[in-house]
Amino acid sequence: MEAKPKRAPQRLNRPPDEEVGPPVVEIENLWTRFGRTVVHQDLNLQIYAGEILSIVGGSGTGKTVLLRQMLGLETPARGCIRVFGEDITTAEPEQLRHMRNHWGMLFQQGALYSALTVYENIAQPMRELHALPEDVIRDAVILKMTMVGLGVEHANKMPSDLSGGMVKRAALARALALEPQLLFLDEPTAGLDPDLSDAFVALIQTLHRELKLTVVMVTHDLDTLFALSSRIAVLADKQVIAVGPICDVLKVDHPFIKQFFLGPRGRRALEVLDERFAGDDTED
Ligand SMILES: Nc1ncnc2c1ncn2[C@@H]1O[C@H](COP(=O)(O)OP(=O)(O)O)[C@@H](O)[C@H]1O
Ligand SMILES: [Mg+2]
Repeated sequence: MEAKPKRAPQRLNRPPDEEVGPPVVEIENLWTRFGRTVVHQDLNLQIYAGEILSIVGGSGTGKTVLLRQMLGLETPARGCIRVFGEDITTAEPEQLRHMRNHWGMLFQQGALYSALTVYENIAQPMRELHALPEDVIRDAVILKMTMVGLGVEHANKMPSDLSGGMVKRAALARALALEPQLLFLDEPTAGLDPDLSDAFVALIQTLHRELKLTVVMVTHDLDTLFALSSRIAVLADKQVIAVGPICDVLKVDHPFIKQFFLGPRGRRALEVLDERFAGDDTED
């Protein structure tokens, strides 16, 4: 039998530059298997309070599965995932339900219930959890709609009557319904045209700033990635091979990083980033 190749160590692990709180998500030695396929092998990742951490990786590298595991929707084969200090892989269903109140999620697919109006969609997490009087729910729904820039005149529309950008906003309003501290986004700008995508990025930036959210995002859209990320985690070879601020990750010598960031698409997005930093710089 051939000897198993030794696994390369994580090539970069830099915490956020700015002062941050303790980690809110800690993933340790995580393994994921589907049948005989190993998706994650000894994966480690820490996500700190207040940051926007973006996860990138090739298709099928297990980004969505990793998000679902952080949410307690799937259980890894091995390893530990602590969210706000609690191991969610061993949490009791009741405890998990309670913890879910502290985070919101926006999935690429199935963003809204098609049979419910926008209003009912946003109200649904509140209805599920608390016996709240209707006027309190109504005020909260209106507040959330205003927050995401969705006019109240859309409240009674069905999702099928909304544009793609409005569906995203409504889904974001629902994700914020329970005032989460932690927000998970899976490909938030996928399928939006560039203008709508920019508007959505600006919205997430504003919400992040005002609500002091920790955001965990999966995206392959480089403009979204560069505009929003405090740090980037790169998933390759079944592990997080690098995590840190963008400029540090770009220096890591790995085929996926070269191909993803330094191909024509990546260079274009980087130029925009350079221009923005040059604009901030008053020295030359
Ligand atoms: N429930 C499942 N059963 C079997 N295989 C799965 C399941 N969920 C995901 N996978 C496989 O795990 C891998 C990672 O999936 P996913 O996390 O969706 O990738 P991506 O990085 O593109 O989001 C893929 O090969 C996918 O086919
Ligand atoms: Mg995915």
